[in-house]
Amino acid sequence: MTLDHIKSRQYKLQSETVRKRLEDIKKRPILLKVDSLKKKFQDREGEIVALGNISFSVHQREFICVIGPSGCGKSTLIRIIAGLEKQTSGSILLDSKPIDSPSSDRGMVFQNYTLFPWLTIKKNIMFGLIMSKTDRQEANIKAMDWLELVGLSEFSDLYPHQLSGGMKQRVAIARALATRPRILLMDEPFGALDAQTRAQMQSYLLQIWGSIDITIIFITHDLEEAIYLADRIFVLGSSSNQLREIVEIPVSRPRKPDQFLSSEFLATKKHLEDLINPEKRSTAKKISIKNGIVEKSSSLEG
Ligand SMILES: Nc1ncnc2c1ncn2[C@@H]1O[C@H](COP(=O)(O)OP(=O)(O)OP(=O)(O)O)[C@@H](O)[C@H]1O
Ligand SMILES: [Mg+2]
Repeated sequence: MTLDHIKSRQYKLQSETVRKRLEDIKKRPILLKVDSLKKKFQDREGEIVALGNISFSVHQREFICVIGPSGCGKSTLIRIIAGLEKQTSGSILLDSKPIDSPSSDRGMVFQNYTLFPWLTIKKNIMFGLIMSKTDRQEANIKAMDWLELVGLSEFSDLYPHQLSGGMKQRVAIARALATRPRILLMDEPFGALDAQTRAQMQSYLLQIWGSIDITIIFITHDLEEAIYLADRIFVLGSSSNQLREIVEIPVSRPRKPDQFLSSEFLATKKHLEDLINPEKRSTAKKISIKNGIVEKSSSLEG
């Protein structure tokens, strides 16, 4: 089966197990509530609408991926949730309390490795714990527990430059989680990794998410990564950087790499491609070869 044989609307067909799971998530308490959020920047050429009137809710222990074309406001959204940027208007509540500055209830992992190069990886993890007033001995024990969870306990005394990219991001995840945030905010965290390491990191992240109480918002450009990880995908875009659509993922859990070829996975991918590249969808032509001559017919739809 190829992507062209899959109708994008088939992504709406959910098995009974998936439908039940998604319904159960909706019954959980709302952790994050974003209402009519807008962000404008002023630069020399005028006003830039980075986010236009966005509203959504995220439930406890949900895994949300955010996709959309470059410049559609993904990083701005996550920076506002992190408290690193202030919205122009609209409200944003975490556990029913307004967000107005960074706090240990939100952990962040970025694409660029942000570990302190002068500290060992254990001390990198201890840093946030000590800053949040954990005593040194307890911070040491907790850091080792987190390194164990990400499979790096034997490397605790190494410095970041002695680790591979994937290992550094595992430390970054452990560091972000060590202070026990309510929500983990990840901005293209695996974007700089090679394909194989990236696939391993996706599985690692799902394992970690499955073993602790954490809600995740994860930005990516990679549609397959988004489908593999998410319960729901928020698709940002359109001319005024709005939320185009919220897509529920019909792929069952636990996720496994062989699901990448399942019909529900491919149908979801096709739907997301159509959403992100609407021009391609309406203008794309079927190409067939008859008697050695390339013929173009109507659009790929239908
Ligand atoms: N500090 C800033 N000052 C002015 N404009 C900004 C600032 N930060 C972001 N922008 C603009 O806001 C819009 C959204 O930017 P943002 O970085 O959120 O996009 P993005 O979806 O994360 O893009 P990418 O996929 O390339 O990372 C862009 O037009 C960007 O140029
Ligand atoms: Mg970005």
